[in-house]
Amino acid sequence: MLAQNTDKVNIDFLKDLSGVKNADDLEQIRIKYLGRNGVISKLFNQLKHVAIEDKPALGKNLNLLRSEVTSQIEKLKSSFVSQKSKGDLQMDLTLPGKKYQIGSKHILTQTLDEIKSIFKEMGFSVHVGPELESDYNNFEALNFPKNHPARDMQDTFFISKDFLLRTHTSPVQIRLMENMKPPVRAIMPGRVYRNEAVSARSFCMFHQVEGLYVDTDVTFAELKGTLVSFASQFYGEDLKYRFRPSYFPFTEPSAEMDITCFICKGSGCKICKNTGWMEILGCGMVDPNVFENVNYDPEKYTGYAFGMGIERIAMLKYGITDIRIFFENDIRFLKQF
Ligand code: PHE
Repeated sequence: MLAQNTDKVNIDFLKDLSGVKNADDLEQIRIKYLGRNGVISKLFNQLKHVAIEDKPALGKNLNLLRSEVTSQIEKLKSSFVSQKSKGDLQMDLTLPGKKYQIGSKHILTQTLDEIKSIFKEMGFSVHVGPELESDYNNFEALNFPKNHPARDMQDTFFISKDFLLRTHTSPVQIRLMENMKPPVRAIMPGRVYRNEAVSARSFCMFHQVEGLYVDTDVTFAELKGTLVSFASQFYGEDLKYRFRPSYFPFTEPSAEMDITCFICKGSGCKICKNTGWMEILGCGMVDPNVFENVNYDPEKYTGYAFGMGIERIAMLKYGITDIRIFFENDIRFLKQF
């Protein structure tokens, strides 16, 4: 009798189980079969009434049934759990679409991209050098002798006696010339560091683009032509500019290029210190001493070099009056570009 009941319960259970659709159904089935007053408990109660010699076999059967039912229920339960977590990821097609925040290029990257593309059109290649430089490449080879006062033009973060964070991109000129023969026509963008008080006009880290063209018979007129062409492509044809004599140890003669102040359009204001002009870059003809340091024959080759600050170039183009804002990652600023 008990044996038949056991078989029937097994069949009923499998039938019930096949009708289970969700975790709640399953819980009902669990209670029905495994609950304290459930079907299987009742079968165990019937054991009391069977003949003593039949007890071991029937008991074993009942235990088997109970563990089989338990394991089937557990198995189905865990499949509901994993489906539930999958279900969370499944799309509800009635919901509005997710808005992906696609990032955009930082204004400095955009500015550099534009500078690069203008110079590439003019035949310049692009090279980069390390931010940690030797004193030799950053100063000495560029004709800043040790203890020369011109070193004070650029307050330096020294790492050790002979190494520093480069104060300008000009050392990449040295690296390039040491590794290739003329003609060399390249721009060299990168980050530079200066130990200066942080203010609206200067930051301890900024970006520069260096330019270098070395060949036989390169002239100052070509330097001017190249830079004017660059500036009018970058700022627009109606740009007003001027070149002023200046001094850099690694160029002779040296000059600085100014364009009309973007704020007052030339009439004079606080930003341009009432001059109506803003400096955008330094430049000049490569000093023969520099050629000697890289084993180029100064009798045979001439060249020009220039260097501009990318932040400054962008500030002038977009009317940004504080350099620090480039590095604050304020989304309200970044989103405008
Ligand atoms: N390296 C100079 C600076 O940082 C700029 C410069 C580059 C000037 C090349 C002349 C030639 O101020």
